[in-house]
Amino acid sequence: MAFVELEVKEHIGVLTINRPEALNALNDEVIRQLDQVLDSLDLSVLRCLIVTGAGQKAFVAGADIAQMSGLTKAEGEAFGKLGNDVFRKLETLPIPTIAAVNGFALGGGCELSMACDIRLASDAAVFGQPEVGLGITPGFGGTQRMARLIGMGKAKELIYTARNIKAPEALSIGLVQAVYPAEELMAEAEKMANRIAGNAPIAVRACKKAINDGLQVDMDAALVVEEKLFGSCFETKDQTNAMTAFVEKRKHDPFVNC
Ligand code: HXC
Repeated sequence: MAFVELEVKEHIGVLTINRPEALNALNDEVIRQLDQVLDSLDLSVLRCLIVTGAGQKAFVAGADIAQMSGLTKAEGEAFGKLGNDVFRKLETLPIPTIAAVNGFALGGGCELSMACDIRLASDAAVFGQPEVGLGITPGFGGTQRMARLIGMGKAKELIYTARNIKAPEALSIGLVQAVYPAEELMAEAEKMANRIAGNAPIAVRACKKAINDGLQVDMDAALVVEEKLFGSCFETKDQTNAMTAFVEKRKHDPFVNC
């Protein structure tokens, strides 16, 4: 049974969490399949990955509560580590990732979206970290990524209150970058993905690495991270192609990813 599907459209991958009968809830099998699909991506071809949920109702309604309900302390910690390791793999994927949030993104679902670089939401999307209402903490990175994305005060408010928010509020606090009518969400996500894919792939990857790595260190070290990646672009054909074309006042050839 494929709980995680991948469709490749030229340089774009669309990864779908496919367990609609449980609102795409993440049990350990879904998370393991997500891990396998991430490992299988052909990064010599793909330039952007869209992550979404199957069906009309949910992106991902969280980790599987029925499966979690009987866990011991050690099993809970192991389940958190399983999700954290896979979400970290997604977060550090060399290519950009876009979460197309088409409905409920609760608990582990909100956390999955936050492991992506960019979040686009349908007008029906609902975000939240309901864990404290279930007697647990967020466990797939929510306590860490939400504070980094929207600031500590707002993250604490949302996590302590377990309050769900709708797409307009998610937009207003910067949790999502844009909101679209539900029927337009995937087309808009693909439009953005194709726009990203049309830029020099090595430079785009370097930008992702510079932003992600730079945020982990102080500003002096962060600027060195940028300098190294900036310099490395000058070894690429895509840089020579684009800059030569500009100087010669003509359109550059298609980027070749080297
Ligand atoms: C298991 C789930 C589920 C979940 C929904 N389902 N969410 N099963 N885990 N997280 C199942 C329901 O049991 C039901 O199955 C089917 O999906 C449809 O859901 P309904 O509840 O009937 O739909 P609706 O009434 O429309 O309500 C939608 C909902 C609600 C508001 C999203 O399903 C809900 O509150 N779900 C739980 C959301 C949540 O608390 N998520 C955080 C989980 S903790 P049947 O078989 O009855 O049809 C978490 C921790 C992450 O994510 C970190 C772990 C380390």
